[in-house]
Amino acid sequence: MMKHKVLVVGGGLAGLRAAVECAMLGVDTAVLSLLYPVRSHSGAAQGGVNAALANMPECKDDTPAKHAYDTVKGADFLADQDCSEILTTDAPTRIYELEHWGVPFSRTPDGKIAQRPFGGAGYPRTCYAADKTGLYILHTLNEQAVKHRVKVYNEWAALSLASDGAQNHGLVALNLQTGAIDAFAADAIIIATGGAGRIYKRTSNAMQSTGYTLGMAYRAGIPFKDMEFVQFHPTTIIGTNILMTEGARGEGGYIINKDNERFMQRYAAKAMELAPRDIVSRSIQTEINEGRGLPDGGGCVYLDLRHLGREKILERLPGIRDICISFLGLDPIEKPIPIQPGQHFIMGGIDTDKDGATILPGVFAAGECACVSVHGANRLGGNSLLECVVMGQRSGAAAAKFVQGKSSALKESVVADALKKTSSDVDALLKSSGKERLVTLRDAMQDAMTDKIGIFRDEKPMAEALALLRELRKRYRNIGVDAKNRKYNLDLLHTIELGGMLDAAEATAAGALARKESRGAHSRLDFKTRDDANWMKHTLAHFTPDGARLDYESVTVTKWQPEERKY
Ligand code: FUM
Repeated sequence: MMKHKVLVVGGGLAGLRAAVECAMLGVDTAVLSLLYPVRSHSGAAQGGVNAALANMPECKDDTPAKHAYDTVKGADFLADQDCSEILTTDAPTRIYELEHWGVPFSRTPDGKIAQRPFGGAGYPRTCYAADKTGLYILHTLNEQAVKHRVKVYNEWAALSLASDGAQNHGLVALNLQTGAIDAFAADAIIIATGGAGRIYKRTSNAMQSTGYTLGMAYRAGIPFKDMEFVQFHPTTIIGTNILMTEGARGEGGYIINKDNERFMQRYAAKAMELAPRDIVSRSIQTEINEGRGLPDGGGCVYLDLRHLGREKILERLPGIRDICISFLGLDPIEKPIPIQPGQHFIMGGIDTDKDGATILPGVFAAGECACVSVHGANRLGGNSLLECVVMGQRSGAAAAKFVQGKSSALKESVVADALKKTSSDVDALLKSSGKERLVTLRDAMQDAMTDKIGIFRDEKPMAEALALLRELRKRYRNIGVDAKNRKYNLDLLHTIELGGMLDAAEATAAGALARKESRGAHSRLDFKTRDDANWMKHTLAHFTPDGARLDYESVTVTKWQPEERKY
């Protein structure tokens, strides 16, 4: 059994920032990561990170309060306003800290951190490093983790929490390299495992973004919050759904339909391509549905960068140009890019307070897997990397405080019991002669989520999806694993992941079907307007073996009463 004061699960931005905070506070801290941390999906984040630095001539009077207002309005007033204010108030400190740690931000002519416009923002406040911002921050935070001697367990998969019901004492995990299952005793666990994009078929998320660890927390009694709010990024390339950064539109890119029309003038005449993502994605999907898109890849429109010119594209958007050349065989300097909306982010997640604490003492969560809630019903572009560094730091500090004074006599028997139970569950799975297969169940889940819990939603398809997902959860109990080896058994890993993915998908569908209004990214054809009287509330989903049990919690409003969103 390994022992640490704090164990962070996940080596992306939120996880590394949390670990660095704990280590800087002198707490014995380790990171357990499915991948080598620098391969985390945070590295795919392109366009930037928001902070009201007021560095550009056109944003001299920007402030964290204005950033908070834009965030709350973008969230369609479902964000907890005290939390959004924390996010935006902490932002400048976290960005300058990253700068001092060495992130090579792009610069203004006078040497300040450059900022570009992003959707739903009143000012250019997205700090960027060309179009590889996440990658640079990830490497910088990894350097800090090395510097502060954070121990990293690479290529381990978290399997279960070790809780006595009142408090958590550790975690059981699978060592992918050896196939061994082992236990970690820790006074605090911080779950920072990213999103669950792979519950959808069309997603910008990497293969590892399954969100299965959400299921691990859920089954330990920690509720999900607001899972029905799923973000579809407007511009992902057809076929692979790899991200084409919002920064491309921030730099002046157009979206055009098959008639060469900048159709956003019909949907958001003022903000145009820089309306918030929920609005731009709905607009693109409407163009496709009404026959003004192109048939390729199941329907698409064009992101047109040609008028930006070669020099600007090479300087500000070199990464997406490379992606277009490698994956589409076209150069955006010369040709428009066929794009379509793709699942990109979950606004919901593991329910936490503003310090990342969950209702299970000893378990914290940060980053995309968590729901604080700072993003409400729709996240603004550039606020995700920000959430990772702000909530990573805050949850690290809170966990470090939580473990202070705790006796090192951890309840090792609780952890040992969890190890025994989880090992026997995994052995049973490996030996099972169950008839169900991973790919069949996973494909059915991903198709149902993409086709029926997508950008536009309606009662009947959602009810069908929910029924199917409940059926899939039952069928999962009869799943068999073909590969019987222990070392690097990805068949086993992906089968384990599917269990947690089905939990997340089912809770998403249940929350979406129950919420009878349209708000932010949750857009219902049968309830087209926002209903503040009945639905200005957070959804909590609690695990039961038969499916999510829902209840609701009020939204914190501090300064801004709900208003109509106009862009
Ligand atoms: O478009 C992008 O670069 C993505 C940014 C984000 O999701 O915040």
